[in-house]
Amino acid sequence: MSTEVLPEIQAEPVHPKSWPPHPPKKMIMSPAMAVFGGLLAFFTVVFMVVVLPTTTFEPDPSENWRPLTDLEMQGRNVFLANGCIYCHSGFVRPQDVYASQYYVYSRAAEPGDYMGDGETPNLFGTIRTGPDLSNAGGFHPDNWHYAHYYNPRYTTPLSIMPQFNFLSEEDARALIAFTQSRGGHIADLRVQHQNNMTALEMASGNVATDRENGDRTDGYPAASAIKNLMLIDRGYWFADNPLPVTTENLLRGRQVFQERCIACHGSQGDGNGPGAFYLNPPPAAFNAADDQQHGSDTSPGAYYWRILRGLPGSAMENFGTRLTVDDIWKVTLFLKTIPNGGLTAEIPTPDMYVQWRGYPGLFEWANCFAPDKDFYMSQDSVDSLADVTNYAQLGPDVSVTPSALSGSALSANTPYGIGDVPGIVAEGTINPVYATVLWEIQNNARPCGTAGYEDVTLHDVLADAQTQADGFALQGTDQIQFIPSDMLDMSQMPPQWLAQVWDQPNPLIASDAGNN
Ligand code: HEC
Ligand code: HEC
Repeated sequence: MSTEVLPEIQAEPVHPKSWPPHPPKKMIMSPAMAVFGGLLAFFTVVFMVVVLPTTTFEPDPSENWRPLTDLEMQGRNVFLANGCIYCHSGFVRPQDVYASQYYVYSRAAEPGDYMGDGETPNLFGTIRTGPDLSNAGGFHPDNWHYAHYYNPRYTTPLSIMPQFNFLSEEDARALIAFTQSRGGHIADLRVQHQNNMTALEMASGNVATDRENGDRTDGYPAASAIKNLMLIDRGYWFADNPLPVTTENLLRGRQVFQERCIACHGSQGDGNGPGAFYLNPPPAAFNAADDQQHGSDTSPGAYYWRILRGLPGSAMENFGTRLTVDDIWKVTLFLKTIPNGGLTAEIPTPDMYVQWRGYPGLFEWANCFAPDKDFYMSQDSVDSLADVTNYAQLGPDVSVTPSALSGSALSANTPYGIGDVPGIVAEGTINPVYATVLWEIQNNARPCGTAGYEDVTLHDVLADAQTQADGFALQGTDQIQFIPSDMLDMSQMPPQWLAQVWDQPNPLIASDAGNN
């Protein structure tokens, strides 16, 4: 047993009565020191965050950058003054790059894009209520912008962008110039392409042939229709709609039409929507049964392609970025009921559907459509032209389904239509494929085998195009001509359709009568 003695436990430890006094010390941070330290910290931050970057961060201008013109700078001020920045950003990160129209893709922003006076203050913005505009140049032709800035619902029925119809014409012009400049050199190419295609559209309407404007139920297609066909992939020229004509499909097609298309094509489908006032070329009309049945470029396949891709040079946009393939085919179905009341009837029904038939001359024309073979086709593909020929000879009453087109009738090597291509591949250099379009219009607008049809070879046209470096078609000539590109500058052409338009009431809108 342990005999250890436990220490005695005190009932209460002894507490000091108060803390011992702190040894007296002198204060190290005097008020002057605090102020000095604060300022030092502040200016260090300013130096690192403001001075260092602005003095040492001097990226070279990116390849794409160019300075803004005076007019564009003026437009930039209009942009700043009207709060566009609250809805539209001005930079694209790599993960945001969106596939663009017309084969010239938009690009991610680079530091070197933000150079010069045109970027102070910058237009980065933070919110994308509307699309990013750093690549906006050339996505639409100028006349689309006129309609859109006047009232965004004149082009885009569901738009929530405010109207800017209070801008003076000068400001509107400047704003459009600025919009078209966004995207630098690449945007310039797109804008040039739009202008060229507008001029081509005008000129092709004026090509002197024995077939004037409009489509024929006899003879060959009009030059303007040939131009449209040339811009459509050949596989779609005579393709039928893959969807059945059902009430359900037509109803959905009508809904798409009313939500997206009536601003230009009109609530009656007659091409007289409120936006039409501003647009040249004007929106197409869909209410003529004859055109729906026998038009050169009104087959379901041609319509489909047009809606998918848009038509460069016109306000017709590419809805491929916004509508599903299904919806595009459905609205294509619906368009063909418009002549029989598809828009006005309570419910569009299959019996209203106009079946496209084409006409003999169109198929004959397609038959002798043979651009200079070794130019952009391989010999293999030339051989398969025979297949196209056979197909076209099926005659006017046969419309062909896409499956027939993808089967043996056309091989993989079948030459495509031109499709939509940039008119210029680099500044001053014409895309040879685009020259082909010109050649086709100029020559194939004549009946096969007539004088002139074989006189001019594609090589001639190309040589011409390349020596003149940058010439395109001019409005008002009776044949396509090559002219210097400065004449295609829209601000220098006399565009009756832009002049004064801002100051006039829109005759198509009753409530506009009192405006301005
Ligand atoms: C309230 C937000 C808002 C404001 C403010 C606004 N926008 Fe928009 N913007 C939109 C929306 C939404 C769209 C897409 C629908 C459409 O095309 O109208 C759009 C579309 C556009 C487009 C077409 C872009 C394309 O790729 O099709 C341009 C160009 C444009 N805006 C320029 C401007 C300019 C210039 C201003 C100032 C004068 C402005 N916006 C002010 C919301 C706005
Ligand atoms: C901003 C105006 C605008 C909008 C919106 C618009 N279009 Fe167009 N569309 C045009 C113009 C302008 C043309 C005429 C182009 C040309 O042939 O010169 C056209 C042509 C067409 C053509 C070719 C017609 C033909 O006979 O070759 C089709 C098809 C068409 N549009 C369908 C549509 C559909 C469907 C929608 C809605 C999803 C739509 N468009 C929306 C302006 C517009």
